[in-house]
Amino acid sequence: MIADTLVQTYKVSFDENNQELALSGSMRPEHGAEMEACIQLLERSIASIRGTFYINVKRLVRLNNVAFHALAGALLKAADERPDVRISIVTSSVIGWSTKKFGTLSAKNPRIAVEEYDSEFYPGQSFLEEGGFVPVLRTQTKLTWKHERSILPRHGLTPGATMADICCGIGDFAVLVAKEFAPSRIVALDHSKSSLAYARQVASEFDIGGIEYIYGDAAEMLLEDGQFDFVSCRHALQIFNKPEMIVDELVRICKPGGRVYVTNEKISQCLGEPRGPSIQWTYEQLSKLFADFDMDLEFGPKSYQALQKAGLEDIRIESFMVTNRDGDAQAFADMVMAWEEMFAGGMCEKRGDDAAFVEKFRRGFEDHIAAALHPGGYAGWPVWVASGRKPQ
Ligand SMILES: C[S@@+](CC[C@H](N)C(=O)[O-])C[C@H]1O[C@@H](n2cnc3c(N)ncnc32)[C@H](O)[C@@H]1O
Repeated sequence: MIADTLVQTYKVSFDENNQELALSGSMRPEHGAEMEACIQLLERSIASIRGTFYINVKRLVRLNNVAFHALAGALLKAADERPDVRISIVTSSVIGWSTKKFGTLSAKNPRIAVEEYDSEFYPGQSFLEEGGFVPVLRTQTKLTWKHERSILPRHGLTPGATMADICCGIGDFAVLVAKEFAPSRIVALDHSKSSLAYARQVASEFDIGGIEYIYGDAAEMLLEDGQFDFVSCRHALQIFNKPEMIVDELVRICKPGGRVYVTNEKISQCLGEPRGPSIQWTYEQLSKLFADFDMDLEFGPKSYQALQKAGLEDIRIESFMVTNRDGDAQAFADMVMAWEEMFAGGMCEKRGDDAAFVEKFRRGFEDHIAAALHPGGYAGWPVWVASGRKPQ
C-alpha cells in the first residue's frame, strides 16, 4: 500500500509492504527547507519499519547538492539512531552518477549499502549484452524483415507515426523502419552499451539520422507516459525473467489509441528436412538450455495473454516462418551458425554440459544448416507477432 505521496518536480512515495521509499524525477531545491516534507516522510517511514529499509532511486534523474545533503544527513542520522536497521539504497546504472554519489554514504556508515540493481538483473544478461551477440541479431533481423515489413501495417504502423523500439539490440529494426515508414520520431532503447555503440556506428555509416538511441532499462524507463503511437519490443520478452514488467512499461509509454507490438519465438518448433529428428532434438534442448537460465524461448504463443493481462484491447496475433526458401538460403545458414556458436559454445560451457552432449547438440544445428543449403532441403524458424491497442 502506498502510504504517502508528495508531488513536485520530483515524487516521493513510501510503500509499506516493501518497506521502500521511492524517489523519482528531478530534485533540485534552492534551500534545505524545501526538502522538509520529503525528509519528514523519510523519518516517518524509517520509524515504521523493521529489518531493511529500501530507498529506490532508480528513477531519480537529478539531485543537486542541497537535496543530497538533506537526504544524506537524514540517512546517516537514522543509521546512527537505529542500529537494528539496515538501509539499502537501490540505484540503476542508467543514472550514471547515482551509485558513486550514494556510495559515499556506505563509507561513512557500513549499515548503509548501495546496490546497483541492474548490474545483474536478468539471468541471461551476460550472454545478451556482450558484443558476441551482434552477428546473431544482424542475420535474424535481415531474415525477419522480409516478413515484418508487410506485417507491420496490419498491426498499426503507419508512415509518420511516433515510434519507440524497446530492447532495440543493434538497432537494425529501427533503421529499416526509418527507411520504410519514415516515422516522425523514433527512439531506440537498450540496456547493452556495446549494442548501442554498434547501432550508432551503423546509423552514421549509412547516414541515417534522427534515431534517438537511449541507454536504459526497459523495466524502468525514464521515458514519459503516453508519447508513442507505436511501441515495439522484439525478441526480448522471452529473455527477461519478468516479461510483465516490460509489457507494463511498453503500455505506459504508448499513447492511448496507439499500439504495442511484440515478437517472440517458440524455439522448439524450429524444423528442417532432411535429418528432421536430429534438428528437432537440438531445438528442444535449446529451449531447455534457455529455461535453465530463466529465459522462455517458448514465449511466442503466450504473448497474446501477456498483452491481454496488461489491459490492451483489439489484440492481434499471427505467426510467420522464416525459411531457407525466402530467397537467401545462405543467410538462414549464417543465422544458425551464429546460434550454434553462441549457444553450444558459451551457454553450454556455463551450464557445465559434457562433451558428448555438446557434440550431439551441435550436430542438430549442423543438420539444420545442411537442410538450409541442401538443394532439396527445407529449414524453418517460426516467429510469433502480437500487438494490442491501448484503451483511450
Ligand atoms: C534477443 S535481443 C533482441 C534485440 C532486437 N530487438 C532484435 O530483435 O534484434 C534482446 C535485447 O534485449 C535487451 N534487453 C534485455 N533486457 C533489457 C532491459 N531490461 N532493458 C533494456 N534492454 C534489455 C538486450 O540487451 C538485447 O539487446
